[in-house]
Amino acid sequence: MTKRFPPPPLQDAPLAGARPSIDARTLLALRKSANKLVLCDPGPTESEIDELLIVAARVPDHRKLGPWRFVVLEGDARKTFGVSLGQILRARGSAQAQIEEAEKSMIRAPVVVAVISSPVDDGRTPVWEQELSAGAVCYNLLLAANASGWAGVWLTEWMAYDAEAGALLGLRGGERVAGFVHLGTARASTPERVRAAVPERTARWTAP
Ligand SMILES: Cc1cc2nc3c(=O)[nH]c(=O)nc-3n(C[C@H](O)[C@H](O)[C@H](O)COP(=O)(O)O)c2cc1C
Repeated sequence: MTKRFPPPPLQDAPLAGARPSIDARTLLALRKSANKLVLCDPGPTESEIDELLIVAARVPDHRKLGPWRFVVLEGDARKTFGVSLGQILRARGSAQAQIEEAEKSMIRAPVVVAVISSPVDDGRTPVWEQELSAGAVCYNLLLAANASGWAGVWLTEWMAYDAEAGALLGLRGGERVAGFVHLGTARASTPERVRAAVPERTARWTAP
């Protein structure tokens, strides 16, 4: 198996607090999600996904709770999941076009990783912080995938907020879908979009 990342450091190994890298800076400055309609084969293999997830989970995580988990949709399971989503909509009398879109929703990309926010009730760590950590996992997964040559996009769509779809995915009490991260190869580039004006959103605090 081709290892794309260095092995995880041993516990208590001294690690640098900064790691200057022009490649990393370029990745961050130019990163772009792919349009969900341009993702195609190939995607990461099972072992490559496993490796990506280990790197993706290397996020800030207050009190080391690991308040997230992954459900990987790959191969035929993607189609089966989509067909079941279509059945959920059919039972509700949804329009045929919506049903068909749901059926195809997980086969748009070769791999879809559902990142599940799974907060732990330790009596002191706010759920908000744990959910933020799950968001960091989604973004870190995208970056790790991009750095490995895969294009991707973080989606939620209706199925992330639907109780029946959540049950189909296997969500347990208190869990939520942080994102369906679609990964694959981009068959076309995606144009840059308007970016939020950061200076307008930046203040320097002064005493009131
Ligand atoms: C939590 C979250 C959920 C999102 N869900 C969707 C979605 O359902 N559909 C969609 O088109 N974009 C969605 N997006 C936006 C895309 O992930 C992406 O940010 C956007 O297409 C712009 O691309 P960029 O990452 O290059 O800025 C979501 C973003 C976030 C952070």
